[in-house]
Parts: sequence; C-alpha cells; structure tokens
Amino acid sequence: MNGSRIMVCFAPMEGITGYIFRNTYNSFFEGIDTFYTPFIPTSQKDKLPAKYKRDIAPENNAGISLIPQLLSKDPVRTAHTAVKICSGYGYGEIDLNCGCPSGTVTANGRGAAMLSDPDSLDAFFETLFMELDRISAEGVKVPDISVKTRIGMSFVSEAEDIIKIYNRYPISTLIIHPRLKDEYYGGNVHMDIFSQMYEESIHPVIYNGDINRAEDYNRIVRDYPDLKAVMIGRGLLKDPALAERIKGIRRKEDYSHRLKEYIRALCDGYYQVYRDERNTLFKMKEMWSFLADNTKDPEKTLRSIRRADSLGEYKATVNRIFEFEIFSVNMGIL
Ligand SMILES: Cc1cc2nc3c(=O)[nH]c(=O)nc-3n(C[C@H](O)[C@H](O)[C@H](O)COP(=O)(O)O)c2cc1C
Repeated sequence: MNGSRIMVCFAPMEGITGYIFRNTYNSFFEGIDTFYTPFIPTSQKDKLPAKYKRDIAPENNAGISLIPQLLSKDPVRTAHTAVKICSGYGYGEIDLNCGCPSGTVTANGRGAAMLSDPDSLDAFFETLFMELDRISAEGVKVPDISVKTRIGMSFVSEAEDIIKIYNRYPISTLIIHPRLKDEYYGGNVHMDIFSQMYEESIHPVIYNGDINRAEDYNRIVRDYPDLKAVMIGRGLLKDPALAERIKGIRRKEDYSHRLKEYIRALCDGYYQVYRDERNTLFKMKEMWSFLADNTKDPEKTLRSIRRADSLGEYKATVNRIFEFEIFSVNMGIL
C-alpha cells in the first residue's frame, strides 16, 4: 500500500466521462473516490437541457460519488443554476470551470478566458458569492463552490494575481491544472508555479495534470502531503486500472480479460443509448485514442481502429488486438 490516504478523482472530460462512461467504468474498476461531470454550460432562464439532466440524474449515477461542473461567465446565472442542481438533484458541491482552453469556449469569455482579466475574475466571484448569500438568507440551501483552474492565459506570472483572488472568496476546494491556456494539454506542467499556489492557497487543493503511472501519483503526494486529492484524466483513460495500482488494490481477474470486457460494455452502453452505429463508433474511436497509448505500437493500433467503418469491423479489430496480447507490455501486471 502507498499514499492511498489522498483521494483519487476522475477528471471531467467533455464528450467522454458522461454517465454511460462513468457507470461502465465503475462496474469494472475500483479506486475512484469522486467523479466530476463534463462541463455543463449555463443557459438562459437557468434551464438545464435534457442531455445534462440525464447526466446528473441520481438514478443514472447510483453508487457513484459525483460533482457536477458548470461553465459560465455569468455569476448570477451560475448561482441560480448551482442552487437548482443542489436542491433538485441533491448535490452538495458544484465545481466551476475556469480552465477550458478550447476556442469555442474561450471566445465567449468562459473557461480559461475567465483568467484573462483579474478585475473581471474578482467581480465574477464577488457577485457569485453575494448572490449565493442572498439566496441562503432566504432559507434556501446553497451548495459549496469549488473551482477548477489553470494558472493563467499566456504567462506564468499571471498566477500571482489569480491565487490572491481565489483566496478572497469562500471557495471549498481549488483544483489546479498547472498549465496556461495557450499550452492546451501539451508541454510540461509548471510545478514551480503549482508549488507557489499550493503554498499560498487558503483553500484545500487538488492537483491535476499528467498523472500516468502510480509513481507519478506517489511523487505528487510525497511532495505535497497536504493535498486533498489528486485528479486524473487521460492517465485513467489510457490505463483504466491506474487508480487500483495507485491504491494497491489487487483483483483476482486477469487484467487483459477485464479490460476487454470493459471496452465491450462501453461500446454496448453507447449503442443502447444512441441506437446508431456512427455515433457509437465515433465514441469508441475517441476512447481508443487514449487506450492505444498502452499498446506495443500505438500508431498501428489506432490506424487499425480508425479503419473500421462499421461496428462489426470495429469489434473484429478489437478481438484481433486482444488476441495478440498487445496490452501486456505495460499493463499485465496486476
Ligand atoms: C477531451 C478532453 C475533454 C475535457 N473536458 C473538460 C471539462 O469538461 N471540464 C474540465 O474542467 N476539464 C476538461 N478537460 C481537462 C481535464 O479535466 C484535465 O484537466 C486535463 O486532461 C489534464 O489532466 P490529465 O493530464 O490527468 O488528463 C478535458 C480534457 C480533455 C483532453
């Protein structure tokens, strides 16, 4: 056993970690303490479209500890949507996305673009917490608010102002992905800046970024022992048993067999909901862009998966991949 006292969270990933994924993942693998939903954009009249209602509905998340994430630049709308989700669905915490680097999100001033101007960021949180206080004073239960953030837009020096702003407000947890918006998901994480923010934050901190092996987790919890949790995204998609390896959970079943069954169940789960081969194939090809990473020849694996243009072909390709045990190199060790 190693640093299992620090929780492991599954990162929110838009288009990937929705409820079908979460349920399938959870029935094959252990070790995740909390999942986050992919971002839910707030909308006019604070109404949640059906797709998002389905994703957070308690009956679609039985046995799963879940925190919904909102994406918005409008503080009043954020407060109202957060309260609705809290009272309507029973969630005690809502996470705010201050880190999405995608052009369609930042063009509207949302996600990482929230970090572009410290005064606007400050004003956002001031209005948000004033509105939550006002609602709370009326006797309505309001949720805790956590924030998932990057360290800035273009320059690491921006982090200095950003952490001061977060420290001014009663944020319940600060999740830090130590990259700039301009860096998307590439290049090295800025651990020096993370260290400064970790030291300076008055809020509990969750670390997020580039945890691909149990050793990565061990290094982080050794260097930052006061972390509340470590959040993992791509590493868990590439190696779904990563949280088990981190926590020293040993399962009797053969890993390769479990992985194959998980991939099959995911495909079936999407097909049952979409009733459509193209959408199901699209989802599974996206999943393989991560899974392939732990095969002997990732490029070759991906090429063969991408060539499939029917579910039948796709399934035959997956069978071939497992027949040749190309996952065993890195992962047949549980
Ligand atoms: C395809 C994709 C979708 C993502 N969607 C979200 C999202 O909805 N909300 C969010 O806060 N972060 C999102 N992220 C960022 C991840 O939550 C995480 O911060 C990032 O992948 C870095 O962590 P990792 O190195 O463990 O993957 C997304 C990342 C990817 C690659």
